[in-house]
Amino acid sequence: MTQFILSIDQGTTSSRAILFTLDANIHASSQQEFPQHFPASGWVEHDPEDIWRTVREVCDEVMDKGCGDSDEVVAVGITNQRETTVLWDRATGEAVYPAIVWQDRRTADWCESLKKQSLEPSVNNKTGLLIDPYFSATKIRWVLDNVPGARQRAEKGELAFGTIDSFLLWRLTGGKVHRTDATNASRTMLFNIHKQEWDQELLDLFGIPEPLLPEVMDSAADFGQIVGNGRLDGASVMGMAGDQQAALFGQTCFETGMAKSTYGTGCFLMLNTGEKALTSEHRLLTTIAYRLNGKPVYALEGSIFIAGAAVQWLRDGLQLIRSACETEPLAEGTPVDHGVYLVPAFTGLGAPYWDPNARGAIFGLTRDTGIKEIVTAGLQSVCYQTKDLQRAMQKDGLRPIALRVDGGMVANNWVLQFLADTLGATVDRPRMVETTALGAAYLAGLQAGVYESLEALQEAWQCDRRFEPEMSKDNRDKLYAGWCSAVARLQSNPE
Ligand code: G3P
Repeated sequence: MTQFILSIDQGTTSSRAILFTLDANIHASSQQEFPQHFPASGWVEHDPEDIWRTVREVCDEVMDKGCGDSDEVVAVGITNQRETTVLWDRATGEAVYPAIVWQDRRTADWCESLKKQSLEPSVNNKTGLLIDPYFSATKIRWVLDNVPGARQRAEKGELAFGTIDSFLLWRLTGGKVHRTDATNASRTMLFNIHKQEWDQELLDLFGIPEPLLPEVMDSAADFGQIVGNGRLDGASVMGMAGDQQAALFGQTCFETGMAKSTYGTGCFLMLNTGEKALTSEHRLLTTIAYRLNGKPVYALEGSIFIAGAAVQWLRDGLQLIRSACETEPLAEGTPVDHGVYLVPAFTGLGAPYWDPNARGAIFGLTRDTGIKEIVTAGLQSVCYQTKDLQRAMQKDGLRPIALRVDGGMVANNWVLQFLADTLGATVDRPRMVETTALGAAYLAGLQAGVYESLEALQEAWQCDRRFEPEMSKDNRDKLYAGWCSAVARLQSNPE
């Protein structure tokens, strides 16, 4: 009997399922986009039923395409858009409010007031995070304060909170298991990343009743068996991690100093710092990279909210292109110093600026600006934002020993060459670019005993192409200076 690992990758704009062979090749995959809801300026919601339906459908589809039944599935891994918050009724499994997405800024004012009370240092010491609407805590509180009866029901233990991993696990196990993993817990702003436990002082500060919370497990663990879900029944969930952590794991960045940058909806640069939770002096986050056998490995993270989503906006919002693959030839035919800067601060600015009230802008338009300059500026913005993160890390005295990239945008060679030029550093694209799903599969496979060790996984990593910087330092500095002044012009609180 052939055996597989099923990986479920529930992202911000789509749900995917991939069946991996045990030697980590893709056997079958399926993907579905689902609707995004923008009910007010800066608000972003998902319908949890869309998330669940698309996950079920892509799972059924890969099982149809590639596999007989759950006997052939050795283990299931789940990876997910992080921070996105769902509260549901434990009795019915129904969500009490739409999922409030990580990009949502509705709690910006409250976050500001917490910062004014000088609470950020203590929150940062415990969680590694900065006070920002990005994380789950203020989103949970918003639901409790705005959905009639929610707080009382939460206090009585009738409701459950979860990031998307927990919500899916609950549904997959027929409402029996309420668990999360340490990486997802570390993004809630309620989890003490040093003590590895929910923090009572933070629960009090954010007004979150403890009965809402899931049990926190290692990233490779026996999370639960699937029941009530047709062909998946009997398979066991054995790996869970937030999508950025899963990508780091799939890229096998297991050594201190190794880094990856993932270009999905947003862009997230993570540097493995080993057993030490380093604190950034330059507004990067400290987060759990993965936790195995009770031992956390930490990372520093720079989070950019809009990367691939800028290309999506050029396609769907401005309708300048019909598909993302048109961007590469357009950029190739455009000089890099065309003078236009697009700052895609559609949902504020993430690291290192952390300005939830900033909004996007295009600078440097002239009579001869056309589609190709605007599209190229969109691609360049992703590279400049990565440079912002690189600079913050450098100011913290850290320099990645290697930068491995993944995510949808890395199919674009022009982007990766411009990235290497902008960073003045080597950029490696792996053969297997589905690193997020692969990371969840690796975690599940480790727990199932399919893989012996992290070293064995590391040996399997292969480089597809290495991009070396070719631009002169002068040009690089000039272009980046233009970006910095564009960003300064739209910040709501420039430093
Ligand atoms: O923190 C948000 C992140 O997990 C979302 O990832 O891939 O959907 O952009 P992605």
